[in-house]
Amino acid sequence: MNPLRDVVDVSVHLYRRGLVSGIGGNVSARVDDRVFITPTMVPLDQVTLKNVAMVDLEGNILRGGRPSSELELHLEVYRRRPDVNGVVHTHSPYARAFLVAGIEIEKMEGFRGLGQGNLPVVSYYPPGSRDLASACAETMVNENAAVLENHGVVCAGETVKEALLLAEFIEELAKTRFIAEVLKFMK
Ligand code: 13P
Repeated sequence: MNPLRDVVDVSVHLYRRGLVSGIGGNVSARVDDRVFITPTMVPLDQVTLKNVAMVDLEGNILRGGRPSSELELHLEVYRRRPDVNGVVHTHSPYARAFLVAGIEIEKMEGFRGLGQGNLPVVSYYPPGSRDLASACAETMVNENAAVLENHGVVCAGETVKEALLLAEFIEELAKTRFIAEVLKFMK
């Protein structure tokens, strides 16, 4: 297990899969009382072992580049969820399209622990704000995924690789819902 390398691998994978673009998205992994998190303003395909930041749970920087502007959101999820050791934030296009249109995304079977009903929606707060961090972490006390109004998706997992799998699942789910809704018009 190498959580630092996992942060790099997951970041590059998210970018290549198109779940983030430009400088969007961020990724972190916790090991005991340390958190590895992607640097701010760096496209995720340019994340390296060198520029990943290491912070403590209070957010003090211990090494690497300047941490993501969503550091507080990641830390707040870790503080409230001792079972979570990985968090990813994406701007995945299909899920985001639902958010922009103000349509909730219904969960589907196929991912352990995701449950049923709609994905919980976190009301809009500016990206990187403490209000967004608190509201998102509060929502994720009992949920491994949340969607941020007009913004993106946050997924948590026992490991950062599990959080990545959930992020991919949610994007696929949103895409499937979209295609199904279009097909209904063709019937
Ligand atoms: P960072 O580059 O600071 O991680 O911000 C990207 C983002 O998606 C903010 O919500």
